Amino acid sequence: MIRLLIATSNLHKVREIRNMLGRYEEIELISLRAFPEYEPPEETGATFQENALLKALHASKLHSGLVLADDSGLVVPSLQGEPGVYSARYAGVGATEADNRKKLVERMSGLDEGLRGGHFVCALALVSPLGVIAQEEARCEGVILHKERGGQGHGYDSLFVKEGYRLTFAEISEETKNQVSHRRRALDKILPALINR
Ligand code: IMP
Repeated sequence: MIRLLIATSNLHKVREIRNMLGRYEEIELISLRAFPEYEPPEETGATFQENALLKALHASKLHSGLVLADDSGLVVPSLQGEPGVYSARYAGVGATEADNRKKLVERMSGLDEGLRGGHFVCALALVSPLGVIAQEEARCEGVILHKERGGQGHGYDSLFVKEGYRLTFAEISEETKNQVSHRRRALDKILPALINR
């Protein structure tokens, strides 16, 4: 049995990762909710990878087994990469996801269709108390809408339509999102390091 700590307190991420790993009976998942006293580190990294590693190593002090951390966000090239690593606090520290979406809509309001491309990025870091085991990153390309559509999902899902799709990530089922998302792709890349241990 592999006891894997998911180093995030974002319930949406935990749920997505839980669903994606559900078919691996040999993996027992625990999340930071098992450690209510835990204080997450400041996300001071300049890249998603740096932040994922920082979170994984920090949480590793809690747990004698494996730790998997996710750092992710949305990147819009025509906004010079915003919101990027600031995705969770785009509208300021303490901002809600709705505030962040509102800011993105405003920042992109003058941009025509050709400049509305964007991609989600998910960086994952897998560590043990002995050190870093693997780091992977993956993207999901799409476009950013002028206004929100759909009531499911989280974060920027209601503004994001994946390439080749018509519906936003907040309109498709979570199951479908979990088959094609940035998180899924990153998880698929890191899985061999997790399973073949
Ligand atoms: P983190 O928890 O510091 O990695 O921040 C991630 C932020 O990026 C979240 O607050 C969301 O706003 C955004 N984000 C990451 N993954 C997704 C996703 O799958 N859908 C929508 N927004 C996401």
